[in-house]
Amino acid sequence: MKNVIVVAIDGPAGSGKSSVSRATARELHYNYLDTGAAYRALAWRCLADGIDAHGPTAVIQSLLTFDLSIGIDPDDYFVRVGSVAVTDDIREPRVTSVVSAVARIPEVRAFMVELFRRVIRGSEKDGIVVEGRDITTIVAPDAEVRILLTASEEARMARRSAELPGASAEKTARELSSRDAQDSRVVDFMNAAEGVITLDSTELDFGQTVKAVVSLVRTGTQH
Ligand code: CDP
Repeated sequence: MKNVIVVAIDGPAGSGKSSVSRATARELHYNYLDTGAAYRALAWRCLADGIDAHGPTAVIQSLLTFDLSIGIDPDDYFVRVGSVAVTDDIREPRVTSVVSAVARIPEVRAFMVELFRRVIRGSEKDGIVVEGRDITTIVAPDAEVRILLTASEEARMARRSAELPGASAEKTARELSSRDAQDSRVVDFMNAAEGVITLDSTELDFGQTVKAVVSLVRTGTQH
């Protein structure tokens, strides 16, 4: 099996992780894995099947028949549960509001970590950019490049509000900080683990952030 270069990127909501990771993968001709989409897809499935996301036993049981496919080509991104395309539906506020409850269940996390590692191993390009909350620490602690992408709370709220037109900025901010608070009880993605490079994008625009990540990858993979 060929040795895939792994670029691990963690960070809080609104840090620009997903779009920056995808653009970086495109630029480097790497694959791209959005791990948050997998947690969101499971949360979506619980809602679709009437499973209480706060009842761990039923959620754990549902993993046995959780048939997920995620596109890892940055130019062909999709998320499917069984034969249902859920790419857009998993971003809906009703999914966002239960995803942390699902992601907190240790059995769910163990299932996802295994799944992500399988996807990484099976990736056919030279490298893969993997983004989430626990990639630098749990999923791929041996990754060639490990980055914590941060931004001030203010910048993150503003970016998320711009992504959700129509929603009240105040409500978006409240929901974002409550989700970060719930998520950071499970994994610490606010502080860089040893050996992880912190990239603060507060003062950078999108293009500058991608450039900075690409340059970290180029430096980190020169042997
Ligand atoms: O993009 P955004 O920050 O809104 O969220 P996301 O990356 O789509 O992740 C959605 C949720 O999945 C997070 O709020 C976490 O609860 C969970 N998640 C996780 O626990 N571990 C990961 N590696 C990725 C996401």
